[in-house]
This record gives sequence, structure tokens and C-alpha cells, in this order.
Amino acid sequence: LISLAAGFTDPDTLPLAEARDLLSEVLASPRVGRSALQYGPTEGLPALRRLTGERLLAQDSAAAGASPARELYQPERVLITHGSQQLLYLVTECLCDPGDIVLVEDPTYFVYLGILQSHGVRCRGVSMETDGLDLRRLESRLAALKRRGELGRVRLLYLVSYYQNPTGVTTHFAKKTAVLDLLRYYGRAAGHTIFLLEDAAYRELRFGGPDVPSALAVGPHAQRVIYAGTYSKPFATGVRVGFGLLPDLVRRAVERVKGNHDFGTASLLQHLLARALATGAYDRHLVELRRRYAGKAEWMAQALRRHFPPEVCWREPRGGLYIWAALPRSLPSGPDSLLLERALAADVLYVPGRLCYAPDPTRRAPNQEMRLSFGNAGEQDIRTGIRRLGEVIRTLLTRVRRGIRPAGRPH
Ligand SMILES: Cc1ncc(COP(=O)(O)O)c(C=O)c1O
Repeated sequence: LISLAAGFTDPDTLPLAEARDLLSEVLASPRVGRSALQYGPTEGLPALRRLTGERLLAQDSAAAGASPARELYQPERVLITHGSQQLLYLVTECLCDPGDIVLVEDPTYFVYLGILQSHGVRCRGVSMETDGLDLRRLESRLAALKRRGELGRVRLLYLVSYYQNPTGVTTHFAKKTAVLDLLRYYGRAAGHTIFLLEDAAYRELRFGGPDVPSALAVGPHAQRVIYAGTYSKPFATGVRVGFGLLPDLVRRAVERVKGNHDFGTASLLQHLLARALATGAYDRHLVELRRRYAGKAEWMAQALRRHFPPEVCWREPRGGLYIWAALPRSLPSGPDSLLLERALAADVLYVPGRLCYAPDPTRRAPNQEMRLSFGNAGEQDIRTGIRRLGEVIRTLLTRVRRGIRPAGRPH
């Protein structure tokens, strides 16, 4: 089976030699080595918190062409977590009660939907454009919730803002500003802060176009931004080190719960990353990684141009790990579709787009999209997988044209 479904990174890019050298350096010094093998502070290794804040400030300054409010990037606001996944979980646990509402992009990172469901949180989807959320839809969503007296239950808006999983879309900075204005306005009406949870998991996997400043760079309203970042995707997913920059009250609550969970992220791995950042090994690795993913994205794009029929819409990625393909509405791609069945019979797997839509009873979610990942598969598998998928799609489209409807509910 060729899996174009998994969001795993490329095994050939994992920094084996670098990690070996960095770990020997960490353990070579008795002082640092003992600290690396000991419990550490729950909030994270001070050096890594400092390096993280400085790195993000430098990225946002460069992307914005101006210096954002420095106080938002102070080490005290940084919390190191076990992957950014843990941060997403803890933030949701601290901010949401069962029955609360979280606004999500339509479609969004489906694993986060699992977190929301496990907390009994209701999701409301907001459709997207090619440069991020559809602001008119967001406003009409918020206005409708206000009319129905439900605004008091809205806790946060979750935005995967760079090379989004699953669509590859990057949110324009002007949209982040507008989103924060809306959240401030409706937060006043709600009587509490509605937070923006900005998930920047793929920010550093950029291989085309300029960087975009984070929502922290917006200015004074950025106090309501919770920024989730990760060192796992750009360095080594197995190292499981992520981070958050959080408003003070939220950070203290999240830190307390994290303490109950695990007393802090593994010291040894934090030392490894701090050293990778401080010595430049991390940035050198990133150059290689970007080059590699640019190549893999191009292999997939070439194969799509060659094997997918022109009715299928997709866009060339400029970062991240995914291409999102939209089929004609007449060809469902969901978990119960003939397309998925035929794809599996041809030994190729994709993520049905339907799974990336929140369970939101107030709107109909499309059922004819697919997420394709060029992260984990090698060149031959990418080319063969797309060719097989293209053949299945062409065959089924021919049936549709002849009036034979493929199985699968058109949601
Ligand atoms: C959008 C998004 N956010 C967060 C994560 C979590 O990544 P990690 O816990 O490795 O930082 C992922 C992983 O695939 C992701 O796709």
C-alpha cells in the first residue's frame, strides 16, 4: 500500500548525525549533562524558552518589516510542551467546558477536532478562501451566535495559519488583523475574551514565497493570541518538542495542568533542541529540509498534472506537507465512497476530505475532496501513488458521465 495519507515527515531528512553529535555535546559536560538527565521546570528549560521567544520575535520582525511589541515574546510567556499537540490539548482543557463553542476553519486539522470532541465542545465551521478564513462568513457566524444568545459559549477560534493542514492555505496577515478585530468586538458582547489559537505547526516548512508575520505581530489586540509552534516538524517529529506563547492567565492555568500531566517536557530533548538552535545546527538542517520538500512537492505536482483529469482542482504548495484536491461534486471521496474502495484496491491511500470538516450540524460539509501528503512517501511512491489514484478517478468519472452514479453519500 502506498500511503499518501500520513502527515509524517520524510524519514530521509531526520537529522541522525546532527542529533548524535548534539546529544554527545550535551552529555559531555557534567553540569549540562546532569541537568539534561534530571527533572526540569514544568514550564520548560530557561534557555529553550529564551531562544524560542527570540527566534519568533526575529521571524515576525523580518516578516513584518517592523519590530512587533517585544513584551509578547518574552521568555516568561513561553511554555515548552510535548509537541504542539499537547499545547492544543491543554489550552482546550483549560478554556473550554462541555457545551462551549469553538470556531474552526472548514476544513481543519482533524486531530484537533478529536480534542474538541473529547471535551464535549461544539464546533462551528467557517469556510475558507485562498488566503485564509472567509471574513464575511466569520462575521455572520458570530452575529448569528449573538442573535441566538450563544456568544457567551464561544471560547476561541482555531486557525492553522501556515500551509494549513489539510488545504495548504496560508492566512494573509491582513486577515489575522481583521479576525482579531472581530474577536475583540464580539468578545465585548460575550462579556469575556474570545481567544485566537494560532497553530503555526508548518511555518518553518516554507519553500516558496515570503514568510507571513504571526498574529502576535498585530499589535495591542495580540494579547488575545495563543500561539502554538513546534520544533517537531522542522527538526524531528520523534523529539516531540513544541511550544506556546500565551497570555499570562492562560499560561498559568495551562502550566498547572501540564504539571499534573507530566512535570514538564523531557529535559534531555529540550537540551538537544536548545543546543541545535544555539549552535546553528537547527537552521542548517532547515535549509536542507526546505530543499527536500520543495523537490517532493514538485514531484507530486508533476504527477498530478500528468495523471489527474483537469476537472480536479488543486494548487501548487509553497510549504507544508499537503496538497488538497477537489473533485467534481458528482464523485464522492468519503470513507464510504466507491472512490476510496477502488483506491484501496489499487493499493493507494488518501485522507478523505470529509474527515477534516468539523461535526457542525448547522452547515453541509463537502464530500468530494482529498488530502494528499508528499511528506513521508519517497519519489517513486509519490509518482506511482498519484498515477494509480488518477486512473481510479478517471475510470469513475467516465462512469459518472455515462450516468452511473458512484456510491457514497453526497453530503
Ligand atoms: C496542524 C497541526 N498542528 C499540530 C500538530 C502537532 O504536531 P506536534 O505535536 O508534532 O508538534 C500537527 C501534526 O501533524 C498538525 O498537523
